[in-house]
Amino acid sequence: MGSLLETKSLTKKFGGLTAVDHVNLTLEKGELRCILGPNGCGKSTLFNLITGVYTPTAGHVFFEGEDITGKPVHIIGRMGIGRKFQVPGIFDQLTVFDNIRVPFFRDQRRSLFFQPRRESGIDDRIMALLEKISLVDKANLPAVHLAHGEKQWLEIGMVLARRPRLMLLDEPTAGMTVTETRKTAQLIRDISSEEKITILVIEHDIGFVREIASRITVLYKGAVFKEGSYEDIQSDESVRRIYLGRSG
Ligand SMILES: Nc1ncnc2c1ncn2[C@@H]1O[C@H](COP(=O)(O)OP(=O)(O)O)[C@@H](O)[C@H]1O
Ligand SMILES: [Mg+2]
Repeated sequence: MGSLLETKSLTKKFGGLTAVDHVNLTLEKGELRCILGPNGCGKSTLFNLITGVYTPTAGHVFFEGEDITGKPVHIIGRMGIGRKFQVPGIFDQLTVFDNIRVPFFRDQRRSLFFQPRRESGIDDRIMALLEKISLVDKANLPAVHLAHGEKQWLEIGMVLARRPRLMLLDEPTAGMTVTETRKTAQLIRDISSEEKITILVIEHDIGFVREIASRITVLYKGAVFKEGSYEDIQSDESVRRIYLGRSG
């Protein structure tokens, strides 16, 4: 089995600060992986390096064996890496349904607003996505009226609509209630098993990571600190020390 994503000695410096420090990360096809680490340890910067937002100071990123280091963001997106940001990038005034429609037409370089209302193939796919993210009942509601958690799910739906091979989620549960967080963990597990998409999730909350029950890479001060199962991570004294004050 070839790996889908591989970073080799990936490094990013901002002046004197090394935000990402010689990170070697290998993701197998179909894997669900969590990147866990305290605030400021370089998680979002790692995503910015993978998606081409930042050019690394040193090191490489390979996607399906191809060196994508330094390629522009839109090319990397088109190659099949989809990303959800910490702040949802949804269109407030469009309905939930139309938010999911946007990626379909954007990818075909067609305008959303000059399409006939119904195109059955696409509409069926949109409804299936809405079902997955539990927003069927709110399909015709302008997205601005959604609860915080629902907005996050909508954006996950928008990323899924593009059928990425790798989906990157940056703190998808930030600001969510306990119930929303649980539901998000369930959603991510479902997507992983049903859609056969490789997923890399950033999280700083070890409780959420337990719900996902996937392989975990702990990042600390920009470097890979430990890798293993939830049990491995949770029972590790040095990881506990990083997370002092947080419940496991
Ligand atoms: N564009 C930037 N310019 C300068 N410093 C940055 C920039 N982006 C991130 N950093 C710094 O890099 C470190 C890692 O940040 P970040 O990757 O956002 O951490 P995390 O997502 O783990 O909270 C932090 O110290 C942050 O201040
Ligand atoms: Mg971050």
